[in-house]
Amino acid sequence: MSADPRPRVLVTIPLFAEVLARIGAHAEVDAPCGTGLAIDWTPEALAARARGAAGLVVAGTPRIDAALLAACPGLRAVCSMAVGYNNIDLPACTAAGVLVSNAPDVLTETTADFGFALMMAAARRISESEHFLRAGRWTHWSYDLFAGADVYGATLGVLGMGRIGQAIARRGALGFAMPVLYHNRSRLDAAVEQQLGAQWVGKDELLARADHLVIVVPYSAASHHLVGAAELALMKPTATLTNIARGGVVDDAALAAALRERRIAAAGLDVFEGEPAVHPDLLAVPNVVLTPHIASASLPTRRAMADLAATNLIAVLAGSGVPPTALNPEVLARRR
Ligand code: GLV
Repeated sequence: MSADPRPRVLVTIPLFAEVLARIGAHAEVDAPCGTGLAIDWTPEALAARARGAAGLVVAGTPRIDAALLAACPGLRAVCSMAVGYNNIDLPACTAAGVLVSNAPDVLTETTADFGFALMMAAARRISESEHFLRAGRWTHWSYDLFAGADVYGATLGVLGMGRIGQAIARRGALGFAMPVLYHNRSRLDAAVEQQLGAQWVGKDELLARADHLVIVVPYSAASHHLVGAAELALMKPTATLTNIARGGVVDDAALAAALRERRIAAAGLDVFEGEPAVHPDLLAVPNVVLTPHIASASLPTRRAMADLAATNLIAVLAGSGVPPTALNPEVLARRR
């Protein structure tokens, strides 16, 4: 039993020492990962460790669901340093009176940079050619050695046009003279479309016309396997597909088959179904650039994400203002 009378916070992920110290000024901090390696929490281990905590700091994992909430009746806040929150059952948290926050905005440009880089790496076969060079196989010049697809002036397709999708569209339109097509459940205002030079099209048309498709939709039951075998079949054989959204939005097995059979030219993937495991068929095809879910990983941005999670948490626990990026602020109004 702790003698510290302050609320206890379980930090489920590794975190910056400075951010742990910030939280520690307001709460007793239980940080089993410290600044080091992440824990692969089982639901049971998480529930046991979280019992009695008033706050949890999480990222895109672990899963926060009704069973966990039932095991933690004193919980007041779950603060994520990720923008995507499909690991958190938001309605269950709201019903339990637990405030949830995520970390939007601070990662938009960094993540868009990475999405664009991954798309370019896939189009220009950068990983594939580096492996070739490192293997000592570069012995001669050839006119078609790792010849890929152009990016400048090609048609950019953006599937999901939220903040990050728009930042990618801006890069394509302004920096690379790309006509931009997008598909989103809701259309942007005409003025924003005009500013981005982006045209809304149906999903099938987007798939059929894009030279480079970048996927940026949040994961939900509705977006599970949004791109599978049928959608891949609509794409051009010269096209690339980049996924920086979430594993599960793309059917990885179907994508690996399309890449293997050259039904599309290449892919860039930062997220995977079942990550950190990666589908073995994807590991076996050369025409895909694979990165370990690092799209937001510049140090300043990761620090800003962590600080935002801490600010939200401190606002709830210490009552020091409104949590700036609460997803269910109505919970606080109910408590008053
Ligand atoms: C990363 O994937 C995030 O959701 O922040």
